[in-house]
Amino acid sequence: MLNRIKLWKKPNPSSPLRDRIEQIKKAAIPEHVAIIMDGNGRWAKKRALPRIAGHHEGMKVVRNTTKLANQLGIKVLTLYAFSTENWKRPKMEVDYLMKLPEEFLGTFLPELVEENVQVKMIGYKDQLPLHTLHAIEKAIEDTKGNDGLILNFALNYGSRAEIIDAVKHVLKDCKSGIMNESELDESLFSSYLMTSKLADPDLLIRTSGEIRLSNFMLWQLAYTEFWFTEVLWPDFSDEHLIEAVEAFQKRQRRFGGVKG
Ligand code: FPP
Repeated sequence: MLNRIKLWKKPNPSSPLRDRIEQIKKAAIPEHVAIIMDGNGRWAKKRALPRIAGHHEGMKVVRNTTKLANQLGIKVLTLYAFSTENWKRPKMEVDYLMKLPEEFLGTFLPELVEENVQVKMIGYKDQLPLHTLHAIEKAIEDTKGNDGLILNFALNYGSRAEIIDAVKHVLKDCKSGIMNESELDESLFSSYLMTSKLADPDLLIRTSGEIRLSNFMLWQLAYTEFWFTEVLWPDFSDEHLIEAVEAFQKRQRRFGGVKG
């Protein structure tokens, strides 16, 4: 295991990147960054490789991105790893995607523990294969004492289903008297979502040139800054994350108010 980790050890960022990181850290860092990791299939196709080769390469980028996010002081990194709609893909691809959490955590969990990362998950656990669920649950358990970056996997996650479930839960609580309808406001409704313990994302990144949300955090992204790039997820590097954060720092967030 140790050898495998050493093999994957990533060199420190080169000095121009180090300078940019230092600059970024002087301004407001987005606390919650959410990423729609898209383009694995196209990355593989360009190389005449099977789609799963793109997902495998994408997994390595998850590790690098987590490392840099932690270094930048980002508090939450939510990664859209599998949507409730992704079950429609060929069985072989779905089976492979369901093996990735095990492979990733089997290799990197010791490193995540060491780097004070907390692993969490949003999504529907009951439809996940047991081997996938066990890998995630072990990682959540082993990192629960950490208080650094939250690495939040959106796995079998779908925002519309999440909202419908929250509405049903609210109705049930109103009916049983746990809640009074007049109490319901945005903040209380948020507490019924899978992200109840997390602040809304400040920055959303989507790779691969697609400009849509694909049923991802529809409620939570109401005031999030969006950053889209043509880069395919397996080619997403430290430099791209730095570029996204630099772009975020130039934005003026008004949350519906007026320019300051
Ligand atoms: C979308 O690209 C990507 C996915 C559905 C899977 C994303 C998963 C990873 C990046 C690996 C996750 C790693 C862990 C540790 C869980 P696509 O396949 O739709 O690409 P395409 O649009 O080019 O076909």
